[in-house]
Amino acid sequence: MSDSPFVLAGVMGWPVAHTRSPAIHNHWIAKYGLKGAYVQLPVQPERLEAAIRGLAALGFAGCNVTVPHKESAMRFMDELHPAARRVAAINTIVVQPDGRLLGMNNDGAGYIQSLRDADATWRGDAGPALVLGAGGAARAIVVALLDEGAPELHITNRTLERAQALADDFGDRVKVVPWAERNEAMAGVSLLVNTTSLGMHGQAPLDVALDALPLEAMVSDAVYIPLETPLLAQARMRGHRTVNGLGMLLNQARPAFQSWFGVLPDVTPELRAAVQATF
Ligand code: ATR
Repeated sequence: MSDSPFVLAGVMGWPVAHTRSPAIHNHWIAKYGLKGAYVQLPVQPERLEAAIRGLAALGFAGCNVTVPHKESAMRFMDELHPAARRVAAINTIVVQPDGRLLGMNNDGAGYIQSLRDADATWRGDAGPALVLGAGGAARAIVVALLDEGAPELHITNRTLERAQALADDFGDRVKVVPWAERNEAMAGVSLLVNTTSLGMHGQAPLDVALDALPLEAMVSDAVYIPLETPLLAQARMRGHRTVNGLGMLLNQARPAFQSWFGVLPDVTPELRAAVQATF
């Protein structure tokens, strides 16, 4: 182990202090006995290109990319993974041995894995899904659900045009529902997912009624602070299976860590506890 190199990685965002990624990756660095560090990289938007170009020069193995850089960082990549290309945003940069930059987006795969962790029998083709929100998180989740064979996806968003733009990019299986009709749209759905910031600590709760939602439907939330959002509490009391946003956060980090540190890490109760301790 003494011969192994010191590996540097981090998370580039603006602001970046709120991100839980350092807690995740530094937990894994310690757990697997690796030499390295995962640091915050606060980068102003006008310095994004210089910062990304500096990764190789500074000896970074790569970094995560978070708000507001996920879309704009894409144009500095030499290569893009197919998921990143389809989502049109990246959340991970890998500096390859020859210095070329690879952009990945693991958010959607992380979301799917979080559903499977909650219910190993979950299948994307089991029925239609209703997606609340049409921002970056929604885009990653829509791509992943389509790839999992979702027969139909309904997207509803406060700003209708944003939902329409998302639907236009992904074809006939994606349909737009006006925000005012979100409660009726729950009929016949087998998966409900909140990708809006509503329900997050410090934000208003999501204003939805679940009466029309079939009881077999799974209810998930991309929000992870608090772990149980008002939406998930409401769903749990009706008897739905619920999935909080922590699993998506932890699972999206696994392939990134593997790319930089060479070990595919596990999501364990100890990791969950370490991250929850930062909430
Ligand atoms: P992210 O990348 O995390 O998805 P985002 O792109 O800012 O973040 O998207 C935030 C989502 O929350 C959007 O769908 C947004 O709706 P708009 O497109 O209409 O802005 C939604 N959202 C935020 N505040 C909201 C509110 N008060 N009511 C309804 N939706 C809200």
